[in-house]
Amino acid sequence: MRIAVIPGDGIGVEVTAEAVKVLRRVGEAFGRQFDLHILPWSAEHYLRTGETLPADGYRMLRDDFDAIFIGALGDPRVPDNVHARDILLGTRFELDLYVNYRPVKLLHERLCPLKSRKPADVDFVVFRENTEGVYVGIGGRFKAGTDDEVAVQEEINTYKGVSRIITHAFEYARANGRRRVCMADKSNAMTQGHALWQRVFKSVCAQYPELEARHLYIDALALLMVQDPAQFDVIVTNNLFGDIVTDLGAALQGGLGLAASGNLHPGRTSMFEPVHGSAPPLAGKNVANPMGAILSTALMLQALGLKLEGASVEAAVKQAVVEGQGTREIGGSLGTRETGDYITNLIKL
Ligand SMILES: NC(=O)c1ccc[n+]([C@@H]2O[C@H](COP(=O)([O-])OP(=O)(O)OC[C@H]3O[C@@H](n4cnc5c(N)ncnc54)[C@H](O)[C@@H]3O)[C@@H](O)[C@H]2O)c1
Repeated sequence: MRIAVIPGDGIGVEVTAEAVKVLRRVGEAFGRQFDLHILPWSAEHYLRTGETLPADGYRMLRDDFDAIFIGALGDPRVPDNVHARDILLGTRFELDLYVNYRPVKLLHERLCPLKSRKPADVDFVVFRENTEGVYVGIGGRFKAGTDDEVAVQEEINTYKGVSRIITHAFEYARANGRRRVCMADKSNAMTQGHALWQRVFKSVCAQYPELEARHLYIDALALLMVQDPAQFDVIVTNNLFGDIVTDLGAALQGGLGLAASGNLHPGRTSMFEPVHGSAPPLAGKNVANPMGAILSTALMLQALGLKLEGASVEAAVKQAVVEGQGTREIGGSLGTRETGDYITNLIKL
């Protein structure tokens, strides 16, 4: 399998090194050939060459690889993060990776900031629409820099975009034995765009009568995710709200260092990455938690049809967590590299 690997910036480089270590071990243990192509696209590359990614970069990612793995992008030396926009958002848009798949799973009760929550209480999946919303960057500023400045940022919602993410959430629930699907929007205030979400949700849920469909306003969802996360199986929402509630979800699982994600277009080359960013203050210190990156390789393996391999990676991370082995922010005493080594040694057939 040909996999494009973009370590990126800051701790992205460090956590990717550990994810690669784990992938190589999976290859040995399961007799799989992973052809890993490390691509240099990053802030460093941009500052040196003026190029964010090559002219045929998106085509190459789409046509020459089975999957893409990204560490993280973002560097204070590139204040507008133009390279991150091109590499990360650009790939999502150009490859039409419309599903942002973010599982929220507590691996050990010790990690949950809520009182008395067991792993079974925090185990749900968020599907974030990944190609529309406010991320399309449509808008403008008038009289910028003056006291009369007007700033307009449009939110794009299309029937096609909303239908396919909501349908994906229901299909996932049906295929994975999840019973409840919750759609969250802000249709009480965003009366145009989110009325479309309402209409589509009602028509899609009629096709899945065996599933329990529920609507919540996004503010109520945030409240209930903290008060009683056990009531959720599958959540589907738009690009901006999904971005925000999955950081809340990451907090429920023990922190950003543990959160994994996939950017998918079923049947096409998809991209996998930890949810966290490049965390510049942690970079180069061997302290970043590589578990989110390693769990993202598990999602990648599963999406590539390598179910056993993906499950073995997830089990190895879980075992490390249960044994209290990991980085300091989750109560361990290991560094990034040592955590990666520990997990790598737990991978077995
Ligand atoms: N997908 C991405 O590449 C992505 C996502 C978010 C932010 N960013 C970029 O990253 C840069 C930093 O952004 P930020 O500080 O808002 O978000 P961040 O995710 O880098 O950090 C947020 C907080 O979480 C902690 N943290 C993050 N990852 C961790 C890990 N693996 N182990 C331990 N602690 C971890 C950080 O120390 C910080 O306190 C910015 O340039 C931003 O644009 C990139």
